[in-house]
Formats: sequence, structure tokens, C-alpha cells
Amino acid sequence: MHSPLQNDTFLRACEREATPYTPIWLMRQAGRYLPEYRAARARAGDFLTLCTTPELACEVTLQPVDRFPLDAAILFSDILTIPYAMGLGLHFVEGEGPVFERPLRSRADIERLGIPDPETDLRFVGDTLRMIRRELAGRVPLIGFAGSPWTLACYMIEGKGSRDFVQIKGMLYSDPGLLHRLLGLLAEAVALYLNAQIAAGAQAIMLFDTWGGTLSTRAYEAFSLAYMRQVMAALHKEAEGRRVPVILFTKGGGGWLEAMADSGADVIGLDWTVELGIARQRIGDRVALQGNMDPIALYGQPDLIAQEAISILDGYGAGGGHIFNLGHGLTPQTPPEHVALLVDTVHQYRRS
Ligand code: CP3
Repeated sequence: MHSPLQNDTFLRACEREATPYTPIWLMRQAGRYLPEYRAARARAGDFLTLCTTPELACEVTLQPVDRFPLDAAILFSDILTIPYAMGLGLHFVEGEGPVFERPLRSRADIERLGIPDPETDLRFVGDTLRMIRRELAGRVPLIGFAGSPWTLACYMIEGKGSRDFVQIKGMLYSDPGLLHRLLGLLAEAVALYLNAQIAAGAQAIMLFDTWGGTLSTRAYEAFSLAYMRQVMAALHKEAEGRRVPVILFTKGGGGWLEAMADSGADVIGLDWTVELGIARQRIGDRVALQGNMDPIALYGQPDLIAQEAISILDGYGAGGGHIFNLGHGLTPQTPPEHVALLVDTVHQYRRS
């Protein structure tokens, strides 16, 4: 049914196997820094239409893979498709990010929530994945993803992005039982959604825990990691006769490397605050590592970008198990030529 995979360096690095070069893909590799993305987005009219129209989402997914020799494609979508399908009324406001019309404000709001059916409510995601696999024709593997239950709950309760997360943390410390109820429901919804992505052709899975790093160590364990563990334990981690590796990324999670490595993830994504060599010493015998260049380093001079990439590669050192990436998503002002230079530098690098 599927074409054979021509480049499996990314999947092999996820299994900590040695590869001839370090594979690279970039968070938000499809996005506003690409003129062809801005054109597709203008045609779609708005961001949500881009996400929910399989032909457009497929086109945008392939743009960075057509332009640069990246080693993986990532589904073009958003982590907020689940709360969108739960009926919270999602809008993306220019310059402000996501906003929910009906954020969760009471126990009744939470008790009313249902789990979206991936085959109907989120059908566009399965259709998009199947279309991308057909168009990729085995060039590189395709990554599916979801937000962590904690990170989804942050947006659903705050109603938008936040600096201090007063609403959700207020609930954490005043009515933890109610928050656990919401997180349990989200863990079920995320697992169901990711298993549907695997069935539709996702060859690896990434869990984005963007806001886990805002928690105390104990709260991270109980309110974020515990639910990601639950999600990972429920995943069908094999498809098409091959393992489906899971990447766990908690932004700001550098203090919790051992706990993350023991969570059931195959790969730990790291932001730029962590030294790769040290992370490898601590958990590199159990998991592969993904990361971790500061995306703003791509605003620098070309020779400094290359130097920065090489220090990260040297920092990890010899042997398999490193997937090069940024420590967070590419930003809209990034020059595409600098991305080309980064991909080339990583591919040319040979460990001495
Ligand atoms: O990585 C990829 O190329 C795949 C696509 C992808 C998007 N969002 C596209 C997007 C992925 C994996 C995400 C995940 C996502 N979405 C996260 C987790 C990762 C992270 O960045 O921390 C979060 C927190 C969201 C929620 C979200 N979506 C925010 C906060 C915003 C606004 C910020 C911004 O850059 O404007 C979005 C919008 C969004 N998601 C854009 C893209 C390309 C920009 C939309 C546009 O204006 O075209």
C-alpha cells in the first residue's frame, strides 16, 4: 500500500542506531518564514482553514521537504485541534495567537466535555495524513503529533496564551481533583487521536508539552508527566512492521531528564538551555535526544550559524541517537537561506 521508505535515518536515530550522518528536521518547518506558506495561507483565508482542508494542509506539509533535504516531514496541523473538536470555539487572532470563545470556567464546563471521535470530528487529520503519505511516496518518514494534556488544558482554561497561568494553576492548587478529571479526559482523547494518526500513516509521534516547564517539580510529575505516561502507554507503537517511536518534548524540562527518560518515550526533545553532552551522560543510554539549537541563532551571520550547529553536534559526540532540531519552533523572520545552510551544515558534518 505504501511506497518503501528511501530515507530512514530519522527513524533509525530515534532507535539510537548509528546513521551515516545526523538526521535533521525543524519544529515549525512549515510556517510563515516561507513565502510559499504565506501564499497558501492567503489562499486558505485563515489558519484554521489551512489546517482543516486536507489538500492545503498536505501542500504546506510538503513545502519545507521540497525546498530543503530534511530527513522527516511533520503533519501540518495544530495542537489545538482537540479542543477545537470539543467545541470550545477556536480563533487565531493576528499577532495574539489562539483564543477560545468558550474557555472552561466551571465544573459544569468540564463535566460537559466529550471525547472527539477521530474518524468523524477529526476526520480531516486522517485524510491529510493519508494524502501526505501518498505524495511523499517514501521520500522521508512522516511525524504525527498532539499537545500534552497539561498544555491543552492550559489553553482551554486560560482561553489563550498566558504569562503566569494564574487560572489553571489556581485550579491546580484549589481544586486539584477537578483538574485531574480534565487531564484524564484529555489523556484519553489524545491517545485515541494519536492512534488514529498512526493508523492513517504517521510513522513517529511527538508530544508537545510546551507549558510543562512552568510547573514545580512535583506538579510536573503529577499534572503533566503522569498524563503523558498514560498517553504513551496507550499508543499502538508499531505500524507497517516497524516501531513507531515517540518523542516527548517538555519545553523548560531540563531539570527532569531522568523522569522524562523513564516515561515510556523513545526520544527526549530538548530546548537550548540544556547541554546535549550532559543530557547524553545522564539519559543517553535509554533514549535518543532531539534538539537543541536556539531558533534565534538562525538570525545570525552564516558562519556563526554553522559554528553553532557544529558545537551542538560536537556536544552530543560520536555514535547514534541524535536528531538535530531547534529547541523550539522556527520564527516568521527567519531567512530561508539560513535554514538551507543549517541543513547542509548538519548533513556535511562528520564526527572526527
Ligand atoms: O512544526 C510544524 O511545522 C507543524 C505544524 C505545527 C503548528 N503548530 C503550525 C502552526 C505544530 C507542530 C504546532 C504545534 C503547536 N501549536 C504548539 C506546540 C509547539 C510550540 O510551538 O510550542 C502550540 C503551543 C500551538 C498553539 C499555537 N498555534 C500558537 C501559540 C500559535 C500562535 C503562535 C504563532 O506562531 O503565531 C499557533 C499558530 C500556528 N501553528 C502557526 C503555525 C504555522 C502560525 C499560524 C499562522 O499565522 O499562519
